[in-house]
Amino acid sequence: MKIFLDTADIREIREAHSWGILDGVTTNPSLVAKEGKDFLDVVREICALVQGPVSAEVVSTTTDEMIREGKDIMRRVGAPNVVIKIPMIREGLRAIRALSSEGIRVNTTLIFTAPQALLAAKAGASFVSPFIGRLDDISHLGMDIVRDIRAIFDNYDFKCEILAASIRNPLHVVDAARLGADIATMPFSVLEAIIKHPLTDIGLQRFLKDWEKLPQQMRKG
Ligand code: G3P
Repeated sequence: MKIFLDTADIREIREAHSWGILDGVTTNPSLVAKEGKDFLDVVREICALVQGPVSAEVVSTTTDEMIREGKDIMRRVGAPNVVIKIPMIREGLRAIRALSSEGIRVNTTLIFTAPQALLAAKAGASFVSPFIGRLDDISHLGMDIVRDIRAIFDNYDFKCEILAASIRNPLHVVDAARLGADIATMPFSVLEAIIKHPLTDIGLQRFLKDWEKLPQQMRKG
C-alpha cells in the first residue's frame, strides 16, 4: 500500500520524504488555508520535493469553472505529478469526464458511499477518496465502504485507485491495508504514531545499556 501525507505543511512533507517512505501528498482547501501561503506556490513547492502524485483541489462548484480551474492549476504549477481534486457532486462528474479525457488525473474527493466511488471511476477518475474518519465520526463504519469499493473495482477491473482519506489513527491504516486500499493518506501525526512503540523504545534502551557492559576492547566486532 502506498503512503501519502495529508498536509500542506512543507516541513512535515520534507521530513517524511527524508525517511524514504513517502509516495505522494494530498492537500485540501482547509489544509492550504492553515499554511497562510499562496496556494499555487505551496503546490509547486510540494511537487518539486515529491515525485509521486500531489493532489490540489478546485474550489469552484460549476462544471465549467471546475474544468477551467483544474486546467489552470495544471498549467500554472507546471509539474507532471499534479492531480486535480474534484468533489463528488453532479457538476463534478462532468468535470471528471472532461479533465480525464484530456489526460489530466483526477482524485474524486468527499466520497462517503461505494456507489459514489463507482460513478467517479466510471467518469474517469484516477483516484477516489473515501473519507473514513468523518464516517466514523457519525457512527458509520468508514472502512465498510473501502471493502465495498475494493470488491466493486475488482469485479469490473476499474483501474481507479482507492485512496483511503480522513485517516485518524494507525488502526485506520492497518484496516485500509488489510482491505486492499491502494493508498492511505494521513496526517503527519498518524505517520509518527505508527513509528512509535513504547516497547521499541524500552527495548532499544535495554540493548544499549547491556552493550555498555561489554568491555571496550570487545565491542569492535
Ligand atoms: O484531505 C481529505 C481528508 O483526508 C480530510 O481529513 O481529517 O479533515 O476528515 P479530515
